[in-house]
Amino acid sequence: MKLWGGRFKKETHPEAEKFLSSISFDQRLYAEDIEGSIAHAKMLAFAGIVSEQEKDSIVKGLEEIKEEIEKGKIRFSDEEDIHLAIEEHLTQKIGETAGKLHTARSRNDQVALDTRLFLRREIKEILKLLGSLQETILEKASKNIEVIMPGFTHLQHAQPILFSHHILAYFYMLERDKKRLEGCLERVNILPLGAGAIAGSSLPIDREYLARLLDFPKVSANSVDAVSDRDFMVEFISGAAMIAMHLSRFSEEIILWSTSEFGFISIGEEFCTGSSLMPQKKNPDVAEVVRGKTGRIYGDLINILVLLKGLPLAYNRDMQDDKISLFDSVDNIKETLSVFSEMLKTIEVKKEKMLAEAGRGYPIAADLAEYLVKKDIPFREAHISVGKLVQFAEEKEKTLEELTLDELKAFCYKFEADVYEAMKLKASVDSKKSFGGTATENVKKAIEEARKLIG
Ligand code: ARG
Repeated sequence: MKLWGGRFKKETHPEAEKFLSSISFDQRLYAEDIEGSIAHAKMLAFAGIVSEQEKDSIVKGLEEIKEEIEKGKIRFSDEEDIHLAIEEHLTQKIGETAGKLHTARSRNDQVALDTRLFLRREIKEILKLLGSLQETILEKASKNIEVIMPGFTHLQHAQPILFSHHILAYFYMLERDKKRLEGCLERVNILPLGAGAIAGSSLPIDREYLARLLDFPKVSANSVDAVSDRDFMVEFISGAAMIAMHLSRFSEEIILWSTSEFGFISIGEEFCTGSSLMPQKKNPDVAEVVRGKTGRIYGDLINILVLLKGLPLAYNRDMQDDKISLFDSVDNIKETLSVFSEMLKTIEVKKEKMLAEAGRGYPIAADLAEYLVKKDIPFREAHISVGKLVQFAEEKEKTLEELTLDELKAFCYKFEADVYEAMKLKASVDSKKSFGGTATENVKKAIEEARKLIG
């Protein structure tokens, strides 16, 4: 008979049984389930609900089961879920005392506990991966600190910037990603155990004691919320989706930069693949798969949001599938962060090509306007004069630097010989000293500050 089978006359239909089983994916929670059960047994003894001997036998049995699972001696196949499977094994091992473990507990608060235990460990891992990717970015930035590249808006050349400044943008995105996950962790770290099925318990359970055993800083304040809340999963997956989006944007740039049209970087061969038809090909597949997986993680987010929408309180079996989205997003974001960071390490920066491209397309036109502003020309007027100057240079097929001072003066009398210095790319970059701007001295400071942030 099933552990819950007392009121049933008929066996479950085999198709329904297979359909309802979650063991294929929730067996992954065996360690968390056992950890939670051991704490629960200890609390029951502490509260005088089971005897010390009963508790010892339960704890010993659970520890053995854990070892047997890890050694491959216990395999799961057609059990309903991991919670019932472990209890069944415990019953085989220690007999009817096993039946006392589930006192004042339901699978509803049990599964909420297991997923919280699982996720808080994984979030800590993901925070470390984010930190090491940030470190890789800082390494790349400091090694290439003075490399100048064209900054783009609308994917058109805009103004020259430092390559280091550009990739540091990703450092700050990841910093926000960390903060988001840290915030999420606070809300994951709330103990749901003791909520029972929905209403709490009439037995003298001690939830604060449980929280201390399982290292939860907080205990859930409402038993209905405790068993129906999956917000922490939505928050996590949405945080993961944001990380994926950031890595996808970075991947897109890496893919573009490695084309022969850009030629800004080359990716280490160990992170590229060839074509089965075209012998000459070296494709940026890792960056492409990172970009592609983003869609999958967005899918996990939509999946859980839709799963929860319209569910009445409290627990509903629909929620069983929450773990599919949760596990999928955890696995994919970890793998992505790790491989992306390794790939980034192998990127070689082609500084001559970046510099040459930075000079194309009149990138210092805005600098000329600011040059005139410094000589007290109203910005709008300066903008028009330099615009006309660009038109003139274009017609003459010359760069702005190639124009003579007389030619420049024809557009604005305030141009002087010192304008040629201001037109140099390096001077342009280094003049952007406003806080957060691309001047080399700013970026050097930013790297120092960033190092402090990741400790
Ligand atoms: N396998 C179930 C899940 O993952 C466990 C909880 C079942 N609770 C219940 N009342 N049937 O959600």
